Amino acid sequence: MQTKVSMQAEIAGISFDNLLLNAAGIRCSTVQDLNSILTSEAGGVVTKSATVEERAGNESPRMRALPLGSINSMGLPNHGFDYYMAYVLKAQSAGYNNVILSVAGLSPADDLLMLREIQQSGFDGLVELNLSCPNVKGKPQVGYDFAAVEQLLGEIFKFFDKRLGLKLPPYFDLTQFDEMAAIINQYPVTYVNSINSIGNGLVIDPVTETAVIKPKGGFGGLGGEYAKPTALANVRGFRQRLKPEIQMIGTGGIKSGMDVFEHVLCGADLVQIGTAFGSEGTPIFDRISQELQDIMIEKGYRRLADFRGKLKTL
Ligand code: SIN
Repeated sequence: MQTKVSMQAEIAGISFDNLLLNAAGIRCSTVQDLNSILTSEAGGVVTKSATVEERAGNESPRMRALPLGSINSMGLPNHGFDYYMAYVLKAQSAGYNNVILSVAGLSPADDLLMLREIQQSGFDGLVELNLSCPNVKGKPQVGYDFAAVEQLLGEIFKFFDKRLGLKLPPYFDLTQFDEMAAIINQYPVTYVNSINSIGNGLVIDPVTETAVIKPKGGFGGLGGEYAKPTALANVRGFRQRLKPEIQMIGTGGIKSGMDVFEHVLCGADLVQIGTAFGSEGTPIFDRISQELQDIMIEKGYRRLADFRGKLKTL
């Protein structure tokens, strides 16, 4: 008889039967996409990051699957804030509290506008503020401007008292981890989600001597296996520096149960799957759950808490 293991996870009192979710951006733009994740083995669903107004995003081709992952410059195509707000409210009234509303303003003013609407709404679930989209032309990733993040968080927490997570870009120097964690630790942030794609990579087809995607002269965010070591370092680096009550979501390079296991070892409470979910669709949640359970059984772990954050170093 197989030993039973639990995939149960929790963020700020919201319980998830499974720690696996989609990453904002992949197959989560429409009500149909969102419902198919919600009714799959995934523990919950994250909406496509909403901008105030509907956006068509960048020109095609804007995403390319690669041997070790993907490059994309989607440019936040989405149906606009009202669409996703209506979705999460409907899901909430149907009893789903495992729906995360992701928002990505094109300016701090847009972020504040959407967060004010959320504050005034009946939505009581998790909100994820995306400070890290690398693909909007002419708009730098806010997460790399520490002073801007500090100012924005100061403004937000003057009025926002719901549960807010931050989706961050990858950082590469330990002083960046120190500085960003010191800023975030001043505020009642619920969780940090690391990482968004590794921004502004360039992939070339050497036969045609051409960049493989069209927007921004071929520059785009890298996901998949290319991103995993950077993602693990960011989850670990923030877990070591953030106040214990600020939880972590790990995103980046997950395509197997072992990848999830490693993210949890680094301190992830939940994980989100982007590139591999894009190519495999909702069956990935069942496959990876099975793989993770097999690993846990083999290692004698029954709950995620048995190994969460317990990475050893040499
Ligand atoms: C995009 O729409 O460009 C990708 C989403 C993101 O990186 O936040």
